[in-house]
Amino acid sequence: MKHQFGGIWTSKKLLALEHYLAFYVKALRNQPFMLHYADAFAGTGSHVPAVEEGQALLMPLENFGGSVEKALEVVPSFDRYHFNDLNPSHVRELEKIKANHPARDIHIYQQDANQFVPEFCRGLKRGDRAVLLLDPYSTQLDWATLKYVADSGKVDLWLLFPISVILRMTPTQGTKVRPEWQNTLNRLLGTDQWMDALYKPIDVPPINDLFGEIDSLQTQRLNVDELERWVTLRLKTLFPYVGEPMRLENNGRPLFSFYFAVSNENPAAWGLAAKAASHIRNKLVGNSQ
Ligand SMILES: C[S@@+](CC[C@H](N)C(=O)[O-])C[C@H]1O[C@@H](n2cnc3c(N)ncnc32)[C@H](O)[C@@H]1O
Repeated sequence: MKHQFGGIWTSKKLLALEHYLAFYVKALRNQPFMLHYADAFAGTGSHVPAVEEGQALLMPLENFGGSVEKALEVVPSFDRYHFNDLNPSHVRELEKIKANHPARDIHIYQQDANQFVPEFCRGLKRGDRAVLLLDPYSTQLDWATLKYVADSGKVDLWLLFPISVILRMTPTQGTKVRPEWQNTLNRLLGTDQWMDALYKPIDVPPINDLFGEIDSLQTQRLNVDELERWVTLRLKTLFPYVGEPMRLENNGRPLFSFYFAVSNENPAAWGLAAKAASHIRNKLVGNSQ
């Protein structure tokens, strides 16, 4: 099945994941933990990136391994894999992947990710450790779901945050956010106070209106860097460690911020994970976007 999504930026996201999974299984293989890999928006296992003009040379059109394939390729392997997707045809592809890997302990789910993730996190036992990928197309992930990940204390998270969608939903000036988007923003950002946070006052020359009153207070939406910093700070209220995100762009346009966060409160546990993830990030950010 051809699953077309993403683009040239997708390979960077998958490379970061692939490197981190390789580090993770090696670092923990001699520890008495049961290692889980969970993919809440698993897709079909592979994907065909959308390629814009001029990018074809960089990325010839073919099926690429998606996150599920990357996770299954990691050596040594995880003890258990959890692949979830809401789309029934994607789940059928995942079932085929499971059939092709009889030696692996693979569990397939067809749930809304906002149901799957809390159940998965609550089900983790004392000796369990996990890497979770949250890779939605766009606005499907509720902020509230992240609280379950943070509260688990056992999950290392890779999170694709749709920064560009927020920029598109919130006009740069003024308060004209479309009413039908307000609930989406509440859900996506986990607060209904985002208007105060995302808009800052700007100085404009005072204008006398017809009644002689002065209107000098206008607001402007944060720019992409400021918005990303705000999201990072919010994540830091949940997780003991949140790394600098990796900005994924297409032809210079910001699309997503790819985050790494650790839920384990023990500095010895997150210290090593953080070091590995920032090393991976810095190597990839050094590459062209
Ligand atoms: C960007 S794709 C995932 C790509 C995958 N990680 C990969 O690398 O191949 C997003 C996936 O999320 C699924 N999806 C959309 N909404 C969902 C939801 N609410 N819960 C779970 N899965 C959902 C889609 O069917 C799609 O397969």
